[in-house]
Amino acid sequence: MKQTVKTTFAVLAAAACWTFAAPTLAQQAPAPMRGADVAAVDQAPDAKKYLGGKPGGQEKVARTFRDQPPVIPHAVENFDEITLEENQCLSCHGADTYQKKKAPKIGDSHFRDREGKLLPGAAAARHNCTQCHVPQVDAPPLVDNEFKGDIVAGKTGKAGKKN
Ligand code: HEC
Ligand code: HEC
Repeated sequence: MKQTVKTTFAVLAAAACWTFAAPTLAQQAPAPMRGADVAAVDQAPDAKKYLGGKPGGQEKVARTFRDQPPVIPHAVENFDEITLEENQCLSCHGADTYQKKKAPKIGDSHFRDREGKLLPGAAAARHNCTQCHVPQVDAPPLVDNEFKGDIVAGKTGKAGKKN
């Protein structure tokens, strides 16, 4: 019985605290880390222009670690979206087009399935190029870091060029 009274009192006390303390807590809410209230609509960051011009005039960007998908040095803004039927990237980088377009051919790994077996053509898993290859913008890093890269470990694009 004594225990029940104690518990009831505790519940009542907690409820009272909540009722009276809640507005005060809300007033003292810390400043939100993302700069806006949780309920506010997010502000899109400034759109930045991708670096590079029309394909054909750019230097390759040095790779910084082994098996890195090389970044795209040219502009991509005017290309059509990659769809199931269409892939403009392949119209220059494909095995049967790259020579004519003077573009680097898609990587050797793109002709193998996930078990490493050689396929007659490019693997479907590589169709969505921009899931791995990304264009670049000139922007400060979002988070400071001390990444150095390991450009001697493998194929490095333009060898020796440090970033
Ligand atoms: C009109 C032809 C053309 C199209 C379309 C094109 N590229 Fe390129 N791409 C090039 C050329 C040429 C280069 C060599 C760099 C240069 O001269 O700009 C290149 C370079 C690259 C590289 C760098 C390769 C390396 O070894 O460093 C990547 C990655 C790449 N392109 C991916 C893409 C992707 C992904 C798309 C589609 C969104 C695409 N390209 C569309 C012609 C093209
Ligand atoms: C799943 C990730 C992935 C996808 C998807 C992908 N790539 Fe790659 N790509 C890579 C990696 C990793 C390399 C470096 C290893 C290699 O050369 O195979 C590479 C290399 C390349 C190279 C340089 C080849 C060389 O010999 O230096 C080109 C050009 C390229 N990819 C174009 C493309 C295009 C165009 C597409 C879309 C049709 C595409 N890639 C899809 C990961 C990917």
